[in-house]
Amino acid sequence: MMEDTILVTGGAGFVGSHACIALHEAGFRPVILDNFSNASEKVLDQLERITGQRFPLVRGDIRDAATLRDAFQRYRFDAVFHFAALKAVGESVRNPLAYYENNVSGTVILLQVMQEWGVRSLVFSSSATVYGEPRYVPIDETHPIGSTNPYGWTKVIVEQLLRDAAKANPKFLALALRYFNPVGAHESGLLGEDPLGTPNNLVPFVAQTAIGRRDHVPVFGTDYQTADGTGVRDYIHVMDLAEGHVAAFRTHHEDSGFKPYNLGTGRGSSVLEVISAFEKSCGARIPWKSAPRRPGDVAVNWADPALAIKRFNWRAWRDLQTMTDDVWRWQSAYPNGLQERTL
Ligand code: WQD
Repeated sequence: MMEDTILVTGGAGFVGSHACIALHEAGFRPVILDNFSNASEKVLDQLERITGQRFPLVRGDIRDAATLRDAFQRYRFDAVFHFAALKAVGESVRNPLAYYENNVSGTVILLQVMQEWGVRSLVFSSSATVYGEPRYVPIDETHPIGSTNPYGWTKVIVEQLLRDAAKANPKFLALALRYFNPVGAHESGLLGEDPLGTPNNLVPFVAQTAIGRRDHVPVFGTDYQTADGTGVRDYIHVMDLAEGHVAAFRTHHEDSGFKPYNLGTGRGSSVLEVISAFEKSCGARIPWKSAPRRPGDVAVNWADPALAIKRFNWRAWRDLQTMTDDVWRWQSAYPNGLQERTL
């Protein structure tokens, strides 16, 4: 178990790179596979500065079976943490085939190569988006499954793939960890969310406004049935999320079957609460303007994380202020992210 070698697909990405830190700190050996379509290679340098370890890199794509086979032969993985995926909701509506090809076909190829090499454990980066429109809140793992966008459907379909694979192979373990809203950055300020182009998500947009790269934050809807009229979400610190992956794997690594878990804090924060926390972090006002509601948005959404807390003996402990403090430390150290890109 300890010293297990773990393939981390998408390991240069936001959650994947933080998961590599948590794996290293828990005594595992992460090997990063990434095609760098949405991450900078400099992430590996930052990971080395944080952990003192240069993690091995497989430069490649989960859809390339030959690359995967070479890696499985070379590193003899004990398990796979699977983060590699396209994840922009809006983009998935405009380009659904790319999402099904990357997220679904890519996972099929990964599972086939895992089977060839007898690797029987997968920790899958799933998403609360598999719950679609919340029927009730907080959301627990028995909430109906469905989606409102192609990205979400790719997560639903991959979870179904994993259920079927687990039925066909009694030794197979698939942990589907359903993230609510991952935000934050490593406390060192050396690593954080570094989206290409205009951020789709709230927190990186607020961070880029605070650093002066954006003129103001558009608040999508101020007339929701919430305390301050703005959308409420369950923001979870990316290091809590990363540690949750390790806790899940440690709990279940000798088990088998498909096991879904919500990874959230169980607390909701509104858009204006996030902006206010960020103002405390950066010590300045952050300009925002009311904007029309975003299609597909819901008013409130947050997790019931009781199952994970009970089973893993893990809980998210970093609060919203810590999340925005850590993001500000990262964003002010790297105003343009790791890759010096034009605005
Ligand atoms: C949060 C709140 C917006 C941007 C998405 C995906 C989900 C997961 C997390 C991958 C909402 C408001 C946002 C802005 C705003 N991703 N907002 N101005 O939509 O809850 O979830 O990211 O797994 O699958 O759906 O996150 O950060 O986009 O929005 O007012 O510029 O912030 O309306 O209330 P969301 P978000």
